[in-house]
Amino acid sequence: MQELLAPVKAFLACETPDAWIEKAKSPEMLQAILVDHCNCELKAAQTALFLIRKYAVDPGCNEALLAWAKPYETFVYHKDRDMAAFLARSGKKNDLDVALTPKAGFAHGDELIAKMVRLIKEEFHHFEQVLEIMHERGIPYTSINAGRYAKGMMSHVRTNEPATLVDKLIVGAFIEARSCERFAKLAPFMDEELSRFYVSLLRSEARHYQDYLKLAEMVAGSKIDERVAYFAAVEAELIQSADDEFRFHSGTPLN
Ligand SMILES: [Fe+2]
Ligand SMILES: [Fe+2]
Repeated sequence: MQELLAPVKAFLACETPDAWIEKAKSPEMLQAILVDHCNCELKAAQTALFLIRKYAVDPGCNEALLAWAKPYETFVYHKDRDMAAFLARSGKKNDLDVALTPKAGFAHGDELIAKMVRLIKEEFHHFEQVLEIMHERGIPYTSINAGRYAKGMMSHVRTNEPATLVDKLIVGAFIEARSCERFAKLAPFMDEELSRFYVSLLRSEARHYQDYLKLAEMVAGSKIDERVAYFAAVEAELIQSADDEFRFHSGTPLN
């Protein structure tokens, strides 16, 4: 585990503040943590799906991609959601059963598709895993608004291509790396089932961060150290500064 975490910690400019861990481990926060974790998994899948639709996949495959996300989005966005029915649905669940054709005129289609499709599959699976745990514990899924974290980083994305894509991929790397760091930090304080679950997520989240970073470097075609350092500072500020909302990626809690 330490081997897995060393590059993640080196990549991030700060560790999660103790005050966030203190709050996150308290039993009253369990529902908030699980519901927001669920949301983060879906957001991670949706963001990657949006990226490959926009940049890498032939528009002829759009329908297949939208159909892939549909069951998850229907569950989350409908008020009368049925957790048991969602979890018991048949079929391949998180898998995509069509081969995607790369978009003409984009040089990195194959690499982007390969890495992102694997990531999306895993995020959908994580979503189902969190929901399964909530279902077992009788914790309902409730809608909550997103915190400031991802938005705060996306507001620094440059507006000219390919810089936009490079920046979005770097932001993706930071979100994945921070998730990985938080799961590891939180795991020792959770009950046995959650602790095991968080540790089981570390390997894929660490790979997701590496994949995003490799893709960013590939699309940029040159070293991206300066941009990575820039976003590291933005990210650390969002993590360390006071935050009045409590979320999986929130800053230092005010109370
Ligand atoms: Fe995940
Ligand atoms: Fe991930």
